[in-house]
Amino acid sequence: MIARQKVWVSRPLFPDVLARLSEYLEVQAEAVERKHTPEQLREYLAGVDAAIISLADPVDAGVVDGNRRLRVIANLAVGYNNLDVPALTRAGILACNTPDVLNETVADYAWALMLGAARRANAAERWLRAGHWHGGMRFDDWLGVDVHGKTLGILGMGRIGQAIARRGAGFDMRVLYHNRSRLPEPVERECRATLVGKDELLRRADHLVLVLPYSRENHHAIGAPELALMKRSAVLVNVARGGIVDDAALAAALREGRLAAAGLDVFEGEPALHPDLLGLDNVLLSPHIASASEDTRRAMADLAADNVLAALGHGPRAGQPPAPLNPEVMKRWP
Ligand code: DGY
Repeated sequence: MIARQKVWVSRPLFPDVLARLSEYLEVQAEAVERKHTPEQLREYLAGVDAAIISLADPVDAGVVDGNRRLRVIANLAVGYNNLDVPALTRAGILACNTPDVLNETVADYAWALMLGAARRANAAERWLRAGHWHGGMRFDDWLGVDVHGKTLGILGMGRIGQAIARRGAGFDMRVLYHNRSRLPEPVERECRATLVGKDELLRRADHLVLVLPYSRENHHAIGAPELALMKRSAVLVNVARGGIVDDAALAAALREGRLAAAGLDVFEGEPALHPDLLGLDNVLLSPHIASASEDTRRAMADLAADNVLAALGHGPRAGQPPAPLNPEVMKRWP
């Protein structure tokens, strides 16, 4: 009997997606969420033909060098800064991600953070739950900043940035963006967005949303000098990646009232948080959940499974994985 190909799933996933994988493959799925050391990753990946992993699993040359069996790694995310794609390419391993299916859900959440942080919804809720609401209602208490009619700034205008921008029309906002390249005119018109330089974006935005991918060049793209350009009344939202913001500099700006508020879904060195952020009331914090709606997480899991099955030659898209990052490696496969 010919042995079935094997897929390792690095953390708990929807049972129906695992069942679909198991129609074609032997599935070895982790039942509990836990961090894997590089040595463990190396060991697990050595014994399988495919893996579905998350952002919490960093895969570099040290993990895959010398691996003769592994064909495909499907990341459960659109961002892939946990993958050393050149190293995977050298090793002949296909890397895949989950683009597009999460654009609107992440855009919704960026707005949730913007609205919540601007209107201090999280701090007010904490205060109420702590039993502090005894008197009537002070007229000059819990004052936040408006969102409607203000200027929305977007740093990184890919598909998620565009989805965030389109929502600005409903709040009657001016939309400014900064990006490596200018968007085609019809897209700018649809988003009602104007390209400006980075410094101008920082100076003019009342609400600044970060959606740029993490790279060495983008490390601390928002640090003390950039924060110093922003309005004291501004709100900063990060749904991109930790490390794009210098969290220590941000905490200082928030503490000293040089920035009104922030909504953060991602952190430098997450799951660890900069301790100064935890003590502040004008920051809304969440544990990297921007894509976490039922529909979208299912769509991401389905896409990761499609990537694996197709790359290994199974199912309706056999040989044509829907979201490859380095498709050229497939030409080198026997
Ligand atoms: C992604 O897909 O890159 C998100 O950060 C995961 O929620």
